[in-house]
Amino acid sequence: MSESHFQSGRRDFLKQSAILGAGIFASTAYALEPRITPQIKNIYPFYHQYQQGIATPAQKNIYFMVVDLHTTDIEKIKEMFQTWTAYSANLTLGKNVKQYGDNIYVPPVDTGEADSLNPYHLTLTFGVSPTFFDKLGISKLKPEELKELPHFPRDQLKAEYTGGDICIQACANDPQVAFHAVRNLVRIGRANITMRWSQAGFNSYEGSDTPRNLFGFKDGTGNPQGEELAKTVWYQKDNWLKGGSFLVARRVQMHLETWDRTNLMGQEETFGRHRDSGAPIGMKNEFDSVDIHQKDAKGNTVIPEISHLHLAKKTGLSILRRSFSYSSGVDTRTGQFDAGLLFISFQKDPQQFITIQNSLGNIDKMNEYITHIGSGLFACFAGVKDENDYLGKALFDAI
Ligand code: HEM
Repeated sequence: MSESHFQSGRRDFLKQSAILGAGIFASTAYALEPRITPQIKNIYPFYHQYQQGIATPAQKNIYFMVVDLHTTDIEKIKEMFQTWTAYSANLTLGKNVKQYGDNIYVPPVDTGEADSLNPYHLTLTFGVSPTFFDKLGISKLKPEELKELPHFPRDQLKAEYTGGDICIQACANDPQVAFHAVRNLVRIGRANITMRWSQAGFNSYEGSDTPRNLFGFKDGTGNPQGEELAKTVWYQKDNWLKGGSFLVARRVQMHLETWDRTNLMGQEETFGRHRDSGAPIGMKNEFDSVDIHQKDAKGNTVIPEISHLHLAKKTGLSILRRSFSYSSGVDTRTGQFDAGLLFISFQKDPQQFITIQNSLGNIDKMNEYITHIGSGLFACFAGVKDENDYLGKALFDAI
């Protein structure tokens, strides 16, 4: 949309609100203006074969929310997803959830903190957990892959970061835009849902560089691309989830103080990559190929067998990692940073994640520096194809 289009649209609105408000006491003086979209290019299309926020490039900020259902009325949940669809279509265009009215005696329809902000590539991704099906009495529609994740070695999951029925992943290149989206979706769903846990996160990078995690290492290098990505993430079976994906979320606390006392060689052996370049140990460049069987002159594997890279790679499996760092103040028990990684991965079958996590298990050298404290598994619907479609339609139609 050109600047002039935008300006005339805004003038039209003001004219319209003046007409509408002509007979109403003082209301036009206070009427809120609609949210504007000055940089229309910062948009990922909402209507698509696949949900956004999976294969779309990772943005700089996330606000991840998990909610519980407090109704068993399927019709109400369906209506909520229909409203969320309409709201999401607007939000991802950089609009308010709905156009403001001019009645100053009711709360504004949109909470307003993103007014005048552009869309910042906002994506909204929705998924449902195994308990969603149990609570609504539709367990027969639960895909066989959608089971609670098993207990992994060294897990120390906390109730406050685990469980929940629906997840909303909001990602954007601005933290306020991401938060605003989730806040407004939760606000309209309040009659049916209660917030359970959430986590904000960030990724910083210049241009197309791979972001570094809080251990200072490039994170995301080995992610699948193109055809391989498609084969890794999209659920293919012929049921309501076709074209969707499974989202695994893990809140992983990273013990920064311990890490910061580890020498560089130890840090690099932990990941199996060089810190500066991101190259596999023994190689020069970040995207140089990884050969976990390569031996040095003494017969030792060049990429240590207990390194994160070696153990992940040896499974031969692939997942799409779309993680974000977090820093949530101080852990009052230890006086250390409450910081880490909101690990998020997408895969067509949770077993891909389970096998890799079991391979990392007790052996991964990185275990000395991390603790998994939160967890969730969600089946993310296929995309909303057009305005006649809505989030989860294939599931609700199957009931
Ligand atoms: C705090 C937790 C974690 C940190 C800091 C971390 C960090 C890293 C880093 C720095 C790399 C190398 C660069 C790259 O390819 O991205 C990597 C690779 C990888 N990580 Fe993690 N990771 C964490 C947890 C996990 C978990 C929980 C899983 C899955 C169960 C996982 C699976 C992988 C995979 C599959 C690779 C790519 C290996 C390949 O090149 O094929 N990571 N991770």
